[in-house]
Amino acid sequence: MQRESAPSLSRPDAAPLAAQGPAPEPALPLADLPADAIATVAHLTSPSVVAAIGRHRAKSNLVVAYDGDFACGLAVGVGGPNRDYELLSLFVSPFHRGRGLGRRLLDRLEAIYLAQGASVGVAHLTVDPDAQDLAILLMRAGWRRPWINRLICESTMESAFRTPWLIGATLDPRFRITAWHDVSHSAREAIEAGLGGWVAPDLNPYDFEPDADPSTSVALIDSAAGDAVRGWIVTHRISEDVLRWTCSFVDPRLEGRARIVPLWLECARRQRALAGPQRFTFAVPVEKPRMAKFAIRRMRPWLTGLRYGCTTEKLHGPYQGPR
Ligand SMILES: CC(C)(COP(=O)(O)OP(=O)(O)OC[C@H]1O[C@@H](n2cnc3c(N)ncnc32)[C@H](O)[C@@H]1OP(=O)(O)O)[C@@H](O)C(=O)NCCC(=O)NCCS
Repeated sequence: MQRESAPSLSRPDAAPLAAQGPAPEPALPLADLPADAIATVAHLTSPSVVAAIGRHRAKSNLVVAYDGDFACGLAVGVGGPNRDYELLSLFVSPFHRGRGLGRRLLDRLEAIYLAQGASVGVAHLTVDPDAQDLAILLMRAGWRRPWINRLICESTMESAFRTPWLIGATLDPRFRITAWHDVSHSAREAIEAGLGGWVAPDLNPYDFEPDADPSTSVALIDSAAGDAVRGWIVTHRISEDVLRWTCSFVDPRLEGRARIVPLWLECARRQRALAGPQRFTFAVPVEKPRMAKFAIRRMRPWLTGLRYGCTTEKLHGPYQGPR
């Protein structure tokens, strides 16, 4: 582990201390830690970032700020294949904010990837309309203005079961809903054959199966089509109290008839019956305008939160293409 010494506070242009009020606090030291040390600073990031570092150990870098022995700030990045890197997380403990620490952590992480030859950084952030501190910091540090690509909706089971259009949904008797894990081998093969056709590539259920929640992931079965699967919701427990409805999809040939709503209702019923998470979250891509409009007009009153999934990038020099 390398720790930097705290930079000198004296500058040639510094005014006499008496004219400045109390002496400024010394800058807190930063340290570069190996990826394996993430467990010691996991309180400064999310479980999904900890998991991502586990998957990309060799290319991950952590920069940590210390106040004595207390880790109070963390920047995490992972190197990409094309002279790029992703800023996975930047966080400063609330009591240590507003002292330049976030910016120093970011600068140091960027310098690590620049030294490795990276020419572009990318970050995916969730922006709360009432708390845009991270987006502002990034823009001040030369990152592009973030662009919105997803609406991130949050709600609770209590609110879901007060939503009239949800609880009133009925299912045509031609359909039934089963647990995703009970889908037959032949039905799975039919989905695979539909990839790139009726199955939207970004909603391929097999991409989301690892660690899926077995009790709330569901499939829509069509008896008029030989018990073929015509839709699914694949969910994940992302914390003790939050279930993410990660991927929800219905065969577009059925969509106009709102087949997805009974599927959501069944997923909600199963979630409500759990002893576990009673909050849930799901994302609506903005490039699906019908869904985005539905989220803003019909879902919004029943949501407990609506945030924006954004992306931003920083060009550190002319893009040089793959290594
Ligand atoms: C964003 C965050 C890292 C900023 O840390 P910080 O130590 O307070 O930031 P700094 O003091 O280094 O500020 C850096 C710049 O951002 C600006 N800034 C930071 N927070 C701001 C805010 N709330 N409003 C306006 N500007 C802000 C500062 O003014 C400063 O600008 P300057 O360089 O032009 O003076 C911190 O607020 C945080 O951890 N927020 C939560 C972020 C989060 O949720 N991360 C997890 C997901 S990745």
